[in-house]
Amino acid sequence: MAVFQPAILQDLPAHATYLMLNLRAGADMATVRGALSGAADLLDGNRVLAGIGAGLAAFLQVQIPGLRDFGGIEGSKVGLHPSTAALWLWLRESDRGELLHQQRRLMQALAPAFEIVQQTAAFKYAGGRDLSGYEDGTENPHGDEARAVAISGDGSSYVAVQLWEHRFEKLQVIPEAEQDQMIGRRKSDNEELDDAPESAHVKRTAQEDFDPEAFVMRRSMPWTDGGRGGLNFVAFATSYDAFEAQLRRMSGAEDGITDALFRFTLPQSTCYFWCPPLKDGRVDLQALL
Ligand code: HEM
Repeated sequence: MAVFQPAILQDLPAHATYLMLNLRAGADMATVRGALSGAADLLDGNRVLAGIGAGLAAFLQVQIPGLRDFGGIEGSKVGLHPSTAALWLWLRESDRGELLHQQRRLMQALAPAFEIVQQTAAFKYAGGRDLSGYEDGTENPHGDEARAVAISGDGSSYVAVQLWEHRFEKLQVIPEAEQDQMIGRRKSDNEELDDAPESAHVKRTAQEDFDPEAFVMRRSMPWTDGGRGGLNFVAFATSYDAFEAQLRRMSGAEDGITDALFRFTLPQSTCYFWCPPLKDGRVDLQALL
């Protein structure tokens, strides 16, 4: 049976760092391969999950079936900010200090070829809530279904990563009952609302309401940086199709109705990566090296 990076199906850690890295100007193929090989022992798919960007695969002249960049949504009524990075790392720890040490170890190996272009400090909030106060992840698939949704036959996975920044000053002036209608669930007890409007987030994204059904495994985490904060949305699947179908409906491209989430939060960047399978307890970089 194919082995996959276990973090995809594991519970969220207490603390995390998301790193986006790009190739250093002038780095050649041998340096890039050397840097990846040097980091390989740290890439266990558990404490460090790794995703490869389409640009890195192209640079290394390898074809990864299904890997591509996010190209935006035609007809979207909101800005989705397509973005790219060569490498995406999700560092996961129970202790914040360990995150720093792990990052330093990784960068010792990667720095000759890669530089960090975005660093996001993330954490588990209130037992698994978004910073808006709503429970996140309720409708994620479980068990064998989760595996089937998130993991391809060879153990690899395709992940969409979208950094959302909340505008708390907008949210705080909306009465809680109205916020509940925007999400389609009650903040107080997570109960789904029968009378939620078409713009409600869970109506826009109801996974079984797509044809074909559009299931993903969400592993999003709240983030902060100074006084700012939001959700680092992360969705694993066997292709980008389900995410894109959901985002299309959220963006208003289908029927002109945008997701009510946009009233208080906006995506800053949207990226796609390919998460290689695991081999002997390490991320299998064989396809790239
Ligand atoms: C800041 C951004 C977002 C926030 C705060 C947020 C929050 C939530 C909350 C509170 C729920 C209800 C509980 C649950 O089932 O998890 C939910 C459900 C869901 N969200 Fe989001 N979400 C965000 C962005 C997105 C994006 C970008 C997508 C996909 C493009 C998405 C896809 C889904 C899906 C598939 C569900 C479950 C729907 C169902 O089948 O019932 N979310 N989200």
